[in-house]
Amino acid sequence: MPPVKGIILAGGTGSRLHPLTVAFSKQLLPVYDKPMIYYPLSTLMLGGIREFLVITTPTDAPMFRKVLGDGAELGLDITYAQQWQPAGIADALRIGADFIGTGPVSLILGDNIFSSPNLPGLLTGSLAEADGATLFGHTVPDPRPYGVAEKDAAGRLIGLEEKPAQPRGSEIVTGLYVYSGDVVDVVRDITPSARGELEITDVNRAYLAQGRARIHSLDSGTRWLDAGTYDGLLDAAAFVRAEEQRGVRLGCLEEIALNLGYIDADTCYALGSKHQKSGYGRYVMAISGKTD
Ligand code: TTP
Repeated sequence: MPPVKGIILAGGTGSRLHPLTVAFSKQLLPVYDKPMIYYPLSTLMLGGIREFLVITTPTDAPMFRKVLGDGAELGLDITYAQQWQPAGIADALRIGADFIGTGPVSLILGDNIFSSPNLPGLLTGSLAEADGATLFGHTVPDPRPYGVAEKDAAGRLIGLEEKPAQPRGSEIVTGLYVYSGDVVDVVRDITPSARGELEITDVNRAYLAQGRARIHSLDSGTRWLDAGTYDGLLDAAAFVRAEEQRGVRLGCLEEIALNLGYIDADTCYALGSKHQKSGYGRYVMAISGKTD
């Protein structure tokens, strides 16, 4: 199987968070004890991905490099690309065409935070069998602000509606997608929408028309947060803190790298000690099982 790759889309305007994001990237804002991008990166790592492309605005690129570097310390390979204008979510698949190569690839939005027991397995399986588009659905009380999945009685995906006034279901399409390598050709054939963006829903609809799109439902223990609004950002921080208080550390990159065998205990301890004055650093040192 070819190496599986991940793209994290971390550009955009962040206008729903203005003035917080006037001078600062949304995806580097704090979500309790870590920058927001740690969470989507951890989601893809849990799916077995080690090769990443992080797409940012040109202005913010140096800050992302400062935060994540080239990933080598964590046993990852992280490269960067720039999106000159917020030309849509599907634009990530155009920018990342060379990186994607023959695929498969997973794309995740840099402001989507997942805590879902069945997601790592679903993501790993979807990448292993990637054919067309695989979406990940989550049931929410009010689906109207989102892309909504329409399913038949057998649970098969039959339609996608964008921000419908009267949704035909309550399962929304989260900001995590898996595609086979031919997505690069599909994106090339998509025309920009009226607002001048390459829409991810158009990519997914193209696969749906070919009978090559499916949706996996995240289980009921799932928490999914769009941290792109004031309340979403605060809810995300509160959720991460509550999980930590019951002993579950979300988005801890060093812990995932250690558990997956990408780094050894000595490296884990050394990485933690870089932040030893913070609770995060001390936690990373502690999970290494090492002492001075
Ligand atoms: P959105 O939250 O839809 O857009 P935004 O981040 O610009 O925020 P706002 O709506 O408040 O203005 O984007 C979802 C994610 O995708 C987010 O992480 C930003 C990213 N994105 C890009 O990187 N480039 C783009 O062209 C678009 C549309 C989004």
